[in-house]
Amino acid sequence: MSKPIYVLSGPNLNLLGVREPEIYGHDTLTDVQARCESRLKGRGVGLVFRQSNHEGELIDWVQEARENGSALVINPAGYGHTSVALLDALKTLSIPIVECHLSNPAARESFRRKTYVSLVATGVVSGFGAASYELAVEAAAGLAGASNPPA
Ligand code: DQA
Repeated sequence: MSKPIYVLSGPNLNLLGVREPEIYGHDTLTDVQARCESRLKGRGVGLVFRQSNHEGELIDWVQEARENGSALVINPAGYGHTSVALLDALKTLSIPIVECHLSNPAARESFRRKTYVSLVATGVVSGFGAASYELAVEAAAGLAGASNPPA
């Protein structure tokens, strides 16, 4: 079995479904995980799906993905706009990085228009709600060379 795809979510995303549902939707993070798992079914690649409100913990997991992952999907949430430390951790990776956002930050407040993560991401998926995660894991699986789903 190949190395798993890591899907990391940053601060406040544990409140998905409750937090500003008009922006982030009604799906919980558990729903999102189930959608990602079913999207990867039959592709012979596993999923490590985690969320933290703590910058250092996210950095530890990025470093873990560096060793143990075939690709990384990350929704850095607010840390995307602020964390040079997270960027530095991401810079140590040689696996593909897919940045993911539920909303479209480029269409929101000006402080959301830039993320540090975009500097190192292979690609960015944003604006599709929970489907952003599904599209991101799909892209990550392709980049990681996972087998195609059975017809
Ligand atoms: C977010 C967008 C960020 O600007 C915000 O800080 C989040 C969530 C998104 O998924 O749309 O917490 O990353």
